[in-house]
Amino acid sequence: MNLLFITGFDLLLAIVSTSLQFGFAYRNDLPRVQKFSFPDLVITGQRTSAHCTAVSGTPPMNFKWLKDGQIIKPVQKYSIRSGADYSILFIEHVDLTTSGNYTCELTSSVGVDKYTTVLEVKEPPKWIKEPKDLYISAGENISIECSAAGYPVPNVTWMKLSGYKDGPEEVKGQQQIRGKSILLKKHTGIEDAGFYICVADNGISKIQTNGIILSISGKM
Ligand SMILES: *[C@@H]1O[C@H](CO)[C@@H](O)[C@H](O)[C@H]1NC(C)=O
Ligand SMILES: *[C@@H]1O[C@H](CO)[C@@H](O)[C@H](O)[C@H]1NC(C)=O
Ligand SMILES: *[C@@H]1O[C@H](CO)[C@@H](O)[C@H](O)[C@H]1NC(C)=O
Repeated sequence: MNLLFITGFDLLLAIVSTSLQFGFAYRNDLPRVQKFSFPDLVITGQRTSAHCTAVSGTPPMNFKWLKDGQIIKPVQKYSIRSGADYSILFIEHVDLTTSGNYTCELTSSVGVDKYTTVLEVKEPPKWIKEPKDLYISAGENISIECSAAGYPVPNVTWMKLSGYKDGPEEVKGQQQIRGKSILLKKHTGIEDAGFYICVADNGISKIQTNGIILSISGKM
């Protein structure tokens, strides 16, 4: 007997039927759905689907899909294709609001079974605030913000391209907060002048801004 698919109620039924019949009875007439999930990585703008299969149950059976407990109607981005013992939920143009708990509910004249799985949509980073070139005098304070949206919320980092080094280097002392970074400098000096970029990375993808030039004129 496959105990994995037996709920408490069914176990009770099984025990009752066992004690009555002096043997185990498979209840293949009881509707039962197989565990399912969405793909590991679902990105905004894509389409996706979930497949719900009835491993047992006697037709006629009825499949119902729910998102966060609300019945999904096959309109707009949702469509549903069902057979006697399966149902597929298709979702077009996935966005962040598509994330949620999805339930497949299977009903027949003798019972109900359901399974719920979570869909967590990911979004590549995109810029909200990109910096512009800045001309200042030595000794001034600067505070330049870069910010990006995405899911997961990206890490934003200021990098400086220095003339003599190979690649860009992370700027020291920048203030990194969720989804943004502020290039903060008190009493700028000539050595702060140069070419800067911001990089946003959320593990889904990595983007960078156009470079900006920080020009600093010396005091005469
Ligand atoms: C799914 O349900 C769980 C438990 O109720 C909840 O904590 C979680 O936030 C839900 N996930 C989504 C994406 O709504
Ligand atoms: C720069 O910041 C320092 C410390 O906060 C402050 O004392 C100073 O007045 C600021 N300088 C300018 C030019 O705003
Ligand atoms: C941001 O950086 C921290 C520290 O390196 C890392 O643990 C975290 O996973 C990063 N977040 C994302 C969304 O990539």
